[in-house]
Amino acid sequence: MQIRKAVFPVAGLGTRFLPATKASAKEILPVVDKPLVQYAVKEAIAAGAEEMVFITSHTKNSIMDHFDRDYELESVLEADGKQELLTAVKDVLPDGINCVYIRQAEQKGLGHAIRCALPAVGDQDFTVILADDLIANGFQPVTAQMHRVYQGYGTSVVAVQRVPESETHKYGIVQAREIEPGVSEIEKIVEKPDPSEAPSNLAVVGRYILSPRIFRLLDKTGFGAGGEIQLTDAIHTLMSEQTVLAYEFEGVRYDCGSKLGYLQANVEMGLHHPEIGDEFRNYLKDFASNLD
Ligand code: UTP
Repeated sequence: MQIRKAVFPVAGLGTRFLPATKASAKEILPVVDKPLVQYAVKEAIAAGAEEMVFITSHTKNSIMDHFDRDYELESVLEADGKQELLTAVKDVLPDGINCVYIRQAEQKGLGHAIRCALPAVGDQDFTVILADDLIANGFQPVTAQMHRVYQGYGTSVVAVQRVPESETHKYGIVQAREIEPGVSEIEKIVEKPDPSEAPSNLAVVGRYILSPRIFRLLDKTGFGAGGEIQLTDAIHTLMSEQTVLAYEFEGVRYDCGSKLGYLQANVEMGLHHPEIGDEFRNYLKDFASNLD
């Protein structure tokens, strides 16, 4: 049971990053030297996906451009003997990987964005990756970890992580019963509950493996928290029909939809970057020693 299709909802307004996201996608913001969406696509490919389905909007053309071949640039790099850069540019989309773009005409929420993927996904289980949740590898990329769980149980899986209790209002929160270390069956899921009403501090983060049944359930899902069609609400209905698992992944997550998380990702991934990591570490040490 290999999942071949990965969906990337990249049509959000990205209001927390305005004005940077006025004319360009949040998911094209770079962490060190690669756009967020490229990390996400690489993660999907590492898990065996072959078709990348982007849910885009009118300000997101840069995403399509990024995944197109640029023969002019490639020939300039080749002529200049810049082999490493040429490889980096070609590696953006390896051979055999197909991209599909679907417009979300109105930003009615994540659930609505996922519903837009139906014509490309059809009747098969699929992966969803929110590129603004950047997850640095644990023992393997997080989507591959989730595929392993999916292969064991053959059912929908959502990635979860413990968050401070004061932050439950920012996430979908689950109540779950553990069935093996790190894997639980979800009993309840609530979108952005107040800390006083949250069933736990186990928060859903931006990785899902979903049954295509979710499309029909999204059709019947009305506007929920924040006036948006919420994926969480459709998952809540899915749970009454099928088992939905929560998987506590291994890896470090950066909430790159927020300014602080984005800066943290740049600093920590910059420290591990093969080209500038050492120099950056020395700079940070000097800089930190002069901070108050
Ligand atoms: P967010 O909740 O981060 O919303 O969406 P946003 O609009 O991107 O950013 P802010 O909150 O205004 O700063 C979570 C994910 O769902 C996608 C976003 O692109 C992001 O990957 N999304 C959200 C859509 O594709 N369409 C929508 O209508 C809403």
